[in-house]
Amino acid sequence: MAQFKPLVFSGVQPTGNLHLGNYLGAIVKFVEMQKTHDCIYCVVDMHAITVPQDPAQLKSSIREVTAAFIAAGIDPKAHIVFNQSQVAEHAELAWVFNCVARMGWLNRMTQFKEKAGKDRENVSVGLFAYPALMAADILVYRATHVPVGEDQKQHLELSRDIAQKFNNDFAESIALCGHGDAFFPLPEPLIQGPATRVMSLRDGTKKMSKSDPSDYSRLNLTDTADIIAQKVRKAKTDPEALPSETAGLAGRAEADNLVGIYAALDNRSKDDVLREFGGGNFSTFKNALVDLAVARLGPVGAEMKRLVGDPAYIDSVLLDGGRRAREIAAPNMKAVKEILGFIG
Ligand code: TRP
Repeated sequence: MAQFKPLVFSGVQPTGNLHLGNYLGAIVKFVEMQKTHDCIYCVVDMHAITVPQDPAQLKSSIREVTAAFIAAGIDPKAHIVFNQSQVAEHAELAWVFNCVARMGWLNRMTQFKEKAGKDRENVSVGLFAYPALMAADILVYRATHVPVGEDQKQHLELSRDIAQKFNNDFAESIALCGHGDAFFPLPEPLIQGPATRVMSLRDGTKKMSKSDPSDYSRLNLTDTADIIAQKVRKAKTDPEALPSETAGLAGRAEADNLVGIYAALDNRSKDDVLREFGGGNFSTFKNALVDLAVARLGPVGAEMKRLVGDPAYIDSVLLDGGRRAREIAAPNMKAVKEILGFIG
């Protein structure tokens, strides 16, 4: 297959509070990728409206995610940070992909099944077509690498299937239009690290989530040091001491989760953390986890709050990013239209 220039793309939905799961599962990796790749990070506001949103709340959530990106260390000058709806090519390519993807493929998406639940007849068409828009987000830039949490793996596979089917279905036209044997790369998911799945602090078998009714289930990026300490101290554990090796975490979901969080926050492996804390009780470990979480999240939360207080700056970052994103998306979309046989 043709060679594609390495390019990173990822997106975060502007819905509700950002928590440790978003931070460790996605944003920390976004920051890391900047060192080695050109990166495009998108606040996916068009994905947000697949379920009902309050316009005023949506606007502040878009600014909050942007603030979190910057506070965590994403450089919006060296890379691109913008909100999705500014670049119409996302929606334009999504329509094309709606016509490439098969009903059967989308019917298999577990996130849709979970979100729609028993109310399948009443959810938006957009919620069903969501993965085709996600594929368009990535492929409108012909991005090659996508840092995401474990829960997005299936959507990434669908993006690859869509890219592959487009390349196959239009192979002749792609070649005639001068793009060789493939127009779209098959984007690779980047899912690594000890905390690709951060679980609830109240139930180690459930994902940490903004929609959990208990705020004690999650650490929000804007929680104060006191709140972080309270939540960690109240986090569910079991009566055993911590094991000395990762194997000993099997069947102990809460212990596994807390050790994973510690490892991710301290940039170490779980084994390494257990070498230090194995055999000890949870209260000692939790004290260390409080200190670490406050040290790592405190400055990010404080900077986020400062940035959210300056919406004019945030909006200028998004506008500049939108303009630069469009410069990449527009010629790619033009080429797609040519390949399809559209005129103009
Ligand atoms: N679906 C992703 C989520 O809910 C967000 C997203 C939208 C995304 N478009 C994307 C992630 C493109 C990576 C690439 O977390």
